[in-house]
Amino acid sequence: MSKTVEMKRVWAMPNSDTFTVPPIGEIVQRYLARSTVSVDPFARNKRWATHTNDLNPATEAEHHMDAQQFLVQLAADGVKADLIIFDPPYSPRQISECYKAAGLEVGMKETQNAALYKRVRDAIPPLCTDDVVVLSFGWNSVGMGQRHNFEQLEILLVCHGGAHNDTICMAERKRR
Ligand SMILES: C[S@@+](CC[C@H](N)C(=O)[O-])C[C@H]1O[C@@H](n2cnc3c(N)ncnc32)[C@H](O)[C@@H]1O
Repeated sequence: MSKTVEMKRVWAMPNSDTFTVPPIGEIVQRYLARSTVSVDPFARNKRWATHTNDLNPATEAEHHMDAQQFLVQLAADGVKADLIIFDPPYSPRQISECYKAAGLEVGMKETQNAALYKRVRDAIPPLCTDDVVVLSFGWNSVGMGQRHNFEQLEILLVCHGGAHNDTICMAERKRR
């Protein structure tokens, strides 16, 4: 049975650099402060985690690979992380913009966000320590979920006003 968690809701200006939004940056920093090895496969210019990656070579991330390939490579290198940050593009349109910004061809297949989320999430478990926390950001609260044997720790809804979608921030840990 799924656990019920408390939800908090705050208001903040929107920003496409997600962690620049103060209450979202605060959540990430709070979990980073307890972490020894962290991984951010969609980092853009935030080099907050131990291992950072972004598809776009013009960003300040350490590596520039597809997120799934990056996670598979880290696992093959024997990396074990206690914090994984999952902040992908939130819609097919955003995926398309990211691919174009990275100078890559984009077709129907690449823009399917459900397919992107699934293949990247499926690459997370081999990297995880037993006490791992996964932070997910987006427009739904699916997260790693029961399918990957995770339970929710907290949910923060960040309302941005007007007709903007809220940013849904979720922390989950591996079930003990
Ligand atoms: C929502 S932004 C991340 C923002 C970042 N967390 C911040 O606070 O500034 C998503 C990033 O994912 C990158 N991206 C998109 N598709 C990707 C893929 N398949 N693999 C790796 N990175 C990807 C984009 O270039 C974009 O910078």
